Amino acid sequence: MANERTLAIIKPDAMEKGIIGDIVQRMEEHNLKVIGGKMLKLTKERAEGFYAVHKGKPFFNDLAKFMSSGPCFVLCLEGEGAIIRWREVMGATNPEEAAEGTLRADFGTDIQCNAVHGSDSAETARFEVSYFFEPHELVQYEWM
Ligand code: RTP
Ligand code: MG
Repeated sequence: MANERTLAIIKPDAMEKGIIGDIVQRMEEHNLKVIGGKMLKLTKERAEGFYAVHKGKPFFNDLAKFMSSGPCFVLCLEGEGAIIRWREVMGATNPEEAAEGTLRADFGTDIQCNAVHGSDSAETARFEVSYFFEPHELVQYEWM
């Protein structure tokens, strides 16, 4: 599988629970290397722009409100097949349906407050990484 980059967000519900460390540990355990990271408090407008693909859906307004309700920790992850791998580590959107041992099963509250975000395709990943990171904010280094 190709070496890929993907965008991860530790959402405001997880920030409130104080579990940045648990989530980053899960990334590292699954060979997802953090090559960029920053703490942000999104405006509602910036959250709407990020999730623009969902504009018009019934949950869009609540989603933008939720994502701008508290801090987000935004990360760029790199690794073999990183996009699908991170989606697998997160689990299904609804924590009730997420497989055992996934982040959303372990830390999600409900279908909205589901702890983490991950890009869902190569095209989305490119858009989402560039939405939050300038090229110089992504750092290449060797590990393990
Ligand atoms: P994400 O984009 O955050 O990684 O989540 P996802 O791909 O698993 O799910 P997606 O369909 O893209 O939905 C984006 C986020 O919107 C919220 N949501 N609420 N109330 C609802 O029915 C509903 N459906 C989705 C969740 O926060 C979801 O992660
Ligand atoms: Mg999505």
